Amino acid sequence: MRIFTFIWIFLLSNVCYSEIDSATGLDIAPGWELVRMHCGACHSYKLVTSQKADRQGWYKMIKWMQETQNLWSFDEVTEKSILDYLSTSYSPSHWKRRAPLDKNLMPREN
Ligand code: HEC
Repeated sequence: MRIFTFIWIFLLSNVCYSEIDSATGLDIAPGWELVRMHCGACHSYKLVTSQKADRQGWYKMIKWMQETQNLWSFDEVTEKSILDYLSTSYSPSHWKRRAPLDKNLMPREN
């Protein structure tokens, strides 16, 4: 009987905490395997996990890599899943840096 308690606690703990894959540092959430498969070949996963952007921002970064860095293209379903994952797990709402200063708050240019 006790085994069921452990299974229950294990299931609950997965619901409550997001897990980080120890090998890549990626947030384990739907679609993360696609990012593990496609985004670690040229640079560290740290470049991915340290970046925050909304869907449009991630889309632009991927397009930039496809146009200039030989990143292969994705079929529609794969691209959607990758963007869903990135814009959820690495969204600007988790951004730890402050926004850039407003222009009128910057030192005057003489
Ligand atoms: C074919 C090689 C390649 C693959 C595969 C690749 N990238 Fe990149 N990526 C690059 C290069 C080159 C840079 C520039 C690295 C640098 O500036 O040191 C880069 C930079 C980045 C940056 C930093 C961009 C910035 O503006 O600071 C992020 C974030 C990123 N990649 C995410 C991803 C994601 C997400 C994937 C998977 C969809 C991916 N990369 C797959 C080549 C690749």
